[in-house]
Amino acid sequence: MAKIAVIYYSSTGNVHQLAAAVAEGAREAGAEVRLRRVPELAPQEAIDSNPLWRAHVDATAHEVEEATPADLEWADGYALGTPTRFGTPAAQLKQFIDTLGGLWFQGKLANKGATAFTSAQNTHGGIESTILTLFNVFSHFGAVIVPPGYTDPILFEAGGNPYGSSVASAGKSAAASDAELAAARHQGRRLAEVSAKLAA
Ligand SMILES: Cc1cc2nc3c(=O)[nH]c(=O)nc-3n(C[C@H](O)[C@H](O)[C@H](O)COP(=O)(O)O)c2cc1C
Repeated sequence: MAKIAVIYYSSTGNVHQLAAAVAEGAREAGAEVRLRRVPELAPQEAIDSNPLWRAHVDATAHEVEEATPADLEWADGYALGTPTRFGTPAAQLKQFIDTLGGLWFQGKLANKGATAFTSAQNTHGGIESTILTLFNVFSHFGAVIVPPGYTDPILFEAGGNPYGSSVASAGKSAAASDAELAAARHQGRRLAEVSAKLAA
């Protein structure tokens, strides 16, 4: 049984929704899963300026544990999720990644399955570049990148993104369609299956 860490940042709930689906899919494949959110860095005034942001922070404060580097050390495979920010990952996730130097130096992030997912407001607003930016990080880790590819018909129904699960939120919260959530579950299952083989 693989151990899978799903680690994400979400301001207004879309990436959280995908993260929960990726985690569910990994569990369906028999994995032990840790679903974790990285620490919020924004000042309270910024969070309060957006009711969707405030509502999401309050809803997940006690529901989802905060991520620590130990979660990645523990895992056989990991999924990282972030909103798209100007075509790149959010600073909150990047800050967490930048705490991983010690594990990286000891080779404890290497030879594990790795996959990524995101949400942007717009279909062509940088979804692919955000996921591919995380693939750069995975390369430095020496991870084995596990993209969804077109390994299940659901990928076509969900918009045909072979790099990772995604949702164009149009500024709404938790906007993923049933097909997008099914694709995210498939991504989690696949990560768990491949990571189990790597760990064997
Ligand atoms: C500072 C900032 C930068 C953003 N940059 C982009 C962008 O480059 N492209 C895009 O389509 N949406 C962009 N967005 C919108 C978010 O990516 C979008 O609302 C996303 O669905 C949020 O995910 P979440 O609900 O998990 O927080 C940006 C939002 C903020 C606050």
